Amino acid sequence: MTNKYIYFVANWKMFGDIKSLNSVNKVIKFSKLYNKFKFKLIYCPPYTLLSSFAKKIQNSYIYLGAQNCHHIPDDGPYTGSISSRMLKNIGVSYVMIGHSENRSEGDTDIMINKKIKSCIKNNLKIIFCIGETLSQKKRGLTHKTLKNQILKGLKGIRKINNVFFAYEPIWSIGTGIIPKSSKLEKDIKYLKLFINKQFKNSNIKILYGGSVNSNNIKSLKNINNIDGFLVGGASQNTKKFIDIVKKTFN
Ligand code: PGA
Repeated sequence: MTNKYIYFVANWKMFGDIKSLNSVNKVIKFSKLYNKFKFKLIYCPPYTLLSSFAKKIQNSYIYLGAQNCHHIPDDGPYTGSISSRMLKNIGVSYVMIGHSENRSEGDTDIMINKKIKSCIKNNLKIIFCIGETLSQKKRGLTHKTLKNQILKGLKGIRKINNVFFAYEPIWSIGTGIIPKSSKLEKDIKYLKLFINKQFKNSNIKILYGGSVNSNNIKSLKNINNIDGFLVGGASQNTKKFIDIVKKTFN
């Protein structure tokens, strides 16, 4: 690993209640103790916990992220929805957009594009999730799929300074299966070159997500050019999450 910051995103998905907030104390302590290492921890709890989290992580090295937002940037008559403005207002600084679990619930590329624009408007950082299905992978369509998702999701956007990419092969999410290191390294290199060429930005951050755990992190951390990890299941267990961070640096 190089001398740059490594990002660790904890995606709690639809898990967590008031009690689980206490588990974060250990992570806050850890982040202070280990701040000689260059990492950034971003917690993305469900909407219901965002406010409490925001209070809890004040004066810590942890940042707050949301798992999604509505595509209209300001308030409006959209029952059950939450705007990026509202997220910004309570102290959120990152928003995950385009997670495959949201894509499968109906988030289209057009909506994803609007959501990203709404986050940019509200000065939020975006964790833009992309990834191919198993069938696309088997048909050799991985790069084509990723290119398509990127071009459609970022249509009309010129400055991508606030966009972090999370490459999450769908066949790897929650399955315990991760890509071969050599393949993952090639794909990340391909993505960086492609995005750099399209957006004339050489400072692109790509995180990997999909079954990251405290065992496979030892090989994942050696992938060249990787900027961090999006951790789902393992992030709900404080010890496992801390272990992932520690093992990245040891
Ligand atoms: P997982 O989830 O780590 O449980 O595979 C990753 C994700 O969905 O972001």
